[in-house]
Amino acid sequence: MSRLEEAQEVLLANWRDGYTIPSPLLYPFQWLWDSGFIALGYAHFDEDKAWSEINALFKGQWNNGFLPHIIFHQESDQYYPGPDVWQTHTLDKAPTSPKTSGITQPPVLGFILEQLFEQTNNLKKTTELARRIIPKIKAFHQYLYNERDPNTEGLVYIRHNWESGLDNSPLWDDALRRINTPKKDLASIRRDLAHVKADNRPSNHEYLKYIWLVEHFVECGYEEEKIREHCPFLIQDPVFNSLLIASNEALFRLSEKIGNPDMDFLNWAIAGKKAMNSKLWDEASVNYLGYDLVTNQQINAPSNAGFIAALFAEIPNSNQLDRIISTHFSNFSDDDFRMMPTVMPDDPLFEGKRYWRGPIWINTNWLLIRGLQKNGESTWADKVREHTLELIEEFGFYEYFHPSKHAPEACGTPMFSWSAALYLDLIHRP
Ligand code: GLC
Repeated sequence: MSRLEEAQEVLLANWRDGYTIPSPLLYPFQWLWDSGFIALGYAHFDEDKAWSEINALFKGQWNNGFLPHIIFHQESDQYYPGPDVWQTHTLDKAPTSPKTSGITQPPVLGFILEQLFEQTNNLKKTTELARRIIPKIKAFHQYLYNERDPNTEGLVYIRHNWESGLDNSPLWDDALRRINTPKKDLASIRRDLAHVKADNRPSNHEYLKYIWLVEHFVECGYEEEKIREHCPFLIQDPVFNSLLIASNEALFRLSEKIGNPDMDFLNWAIAGKKAMNSKLWDEASVNYLGYDLVTNQQINAPSNAGFIAALFAEIPNSNQLDRIISTHFSNFSDDDFRMMPTVMPDDPLFEGKRYWRGPIWINTNWLLIRGLQKNGESTWADKVREHTLELIEEFGFYEYFHPSKHAPEACGTPMFSWSAALYLDLIHRP
């Protein structure tokens, strides 16, 4: 079987009743940004499934517009923390069925919807679907600006590292260090360690802090103002904000195309771009950094995801773009490593196998390829694409990969849905 056929098989094997799980072993429910990327894969061979994937997400939408990062469509004891920990079904604003988590994930749906629209074989039906879905995505963005941008800066905050999608990135180390957790034996409760080697996963110590934050939200009854008062983790994340901006721009274009232009999307995008460049850009590291709203400081931690997502959203001006290319691409040691690790290999915090602290992920590479293409950097885009395809062709659809060229390694879980979906997209739309 070719890798292309296998990619479809992976998606279909992970397909449940109307949506797709990220992977059979680790993640038995529906995840927000995963489903966005997954829909792009289906769009190449089964458009109905792509739309179903997106629609299923809105079954978990809260009545204040909030979109949760996990939708527990069915029961499973294969994942921790499950609905009992999140306790959202007792809230007036959250659905009782399906149960959901109480944090969100990067707002990718706007640009995903635009791509589904561009690629469709059935314009009439797709226009109808887009008309129905755009207001729901708008409600989500409106929620973010209402609740997560208290000083009206055009930048929204995340309040849990899981909301970034980059769970254990060095970006969150300082904020998480503020959380003192009592000792608890999580090792026996965590389900992930039964399936994946511990050195591929966040440590127990880190996990305790992740759960502490969830318990804080529960104690505050998920009231944003209350949460904000004492939350040790309030960060304007460059990845989350870039993807929000990219989605806003895409939705503005799409709303124009379907004959109903919505200036709110454009205005949000303009304000966001300006704020990214004034508040999150860092001259010294030539990167977009997180901003810690607890200490009121930029977070000086290594992560390539900042410039990757900003390129995708076309945020850098031409001078910033030149500097990003000469610093992070022209100087990249590609005799030894594939592009683009999530943390540079020469950084003291680099860990080649530990999740978001160094490995290559297919979704960040996909964002980077598309970002480089949009910015007219096709030579680098081709290189990143080649490195991405090499990994998948050699190892298959793993969750992520060690970037070393001499000792490459597939890590995490196999049969990972977005690796398959984005491979399909990179082959069909080079
Ligand atoms: C991990 C990843 C996150 C992803 C989820 C489901 O938590 O860090 O980005 O959405 O798994 O695949």
